[in-house]
Amino acid sequence: MSLVTTTEMFKKAYQGGYAIGAFNVNNMEIIQGITEAAMEEKAPLILQVSAGARKYAKHVYLMKLIEAAVEDTGLPIAVHLDHGDDFEICKSCIDGGFTSVMIDGSKHSFQDNIALTKKVVDYAHAKSVTVEGELGKLAGIEDDVNVSDADAQFTDPSEVEEFVEKTGVDSLAIAIGTSHGAYKFKPGQKPQLRFDILEDIQRRLPGFPIVLHGASSVVPEFVQKVNQYGGKMPDAVGIPEEMLRQAAGLAVCKINIDSDLRLAMTASVREHFAQNPGHFDPRQYLSPARAAIKAMVKRKLVNVLGCSGKA
Ligand code: G3H
Ligand code: 13P
Ligand code: ZN
Repeated sequence: MSLVTTTEMFKKAYQGGYAIGAFNVNNMEIIQGITEAAMEEKAPLILQVSAGARKYAKHVYLMKLIEAAVEDTGLPIAVHLDHGDDFEICKSCIDGGFTSVMIDGSKHSFQDNIALTKKVVDYAHAKSVTVEGELGKLAGIEDDVNVSDADAQFTDPSEVEEFVEKTGVDSLAIAIGTSHGAYKFKPGQKPQLRFDILEDIQRRLPGFPIVLHGASSVVPEFVQKVNQYGGKMPDAVGIPEEMLRQAAGLAVCKINIDSDLRLAMTASVREHFAQNPGHFDPRQYLSPARAAIKAMVKRKLVNVLGCSGKA
């Protein structure tokens, strides 16, 4: 098995009423934790790399680690650029062996988003690479993108057909109430997703794969664990797992998860040092941290994605 694009994965996911997990990767332990979970669950995978991850670990290191994961597991794995900001980063990732890229033109006007996305699609498709576009703006913070609640806006379903037709994108990320990071809803606020918008989009684009970003559930027991062992995270509320499972049964074929992995890893490292203050060999705390990533990914494969046994 070599790296795959998202085409076949999404076709089967759409028909089967499940979604593929797109997990953000930054180092070897994260990649191993995710792929060990997927191997045990026989699940297809998308490993995604942000601009910040490329800056942190370097493209070539992440690429080689992901190739090692494919060799080690034999799983169908797509390697995807998360939130490509401009044509150049998409080109660099395509030339550097990624099988899928996201061009996030959501901060531009509708017409400029179309023009930029089409330019990436033309380049990517000539090299058999798949492309994810985005319409609508999610709130929240990533390394290079910071959208305030006031600037966030739901996807307008009346725009999706023209966008897909004019750009030729292979999948579309939409904004229906998810947001990036650990603080998606205020404590006491009831999490809600706009299933009416999702269903309207699905009616307009039958069979077309939809993507949800900002889909961590910010599992409360992990926030508590971080704080129990010296952390100071404010109360955080994410997207309930059952809502994501419902979306995966509709047109959503890719669900992006990063914050829950960060939380699991950090909780584990904090717990380890609280219990073993004398340790200083990184393997002593990175082994349980990798196991925590694995357990979190298994939980997502089963509770949210429904893709166990689909590899
Ligand atoms: O949505 C973005 C991901 O969580 C990646 O975050 O840009 O801090 O690597 P990052
Ligand atoms: P979370 O911050 O909810 O994990 O979202 C990650 C994401 O959308 C990556 O693109
Ligand atoms: Zn995202």
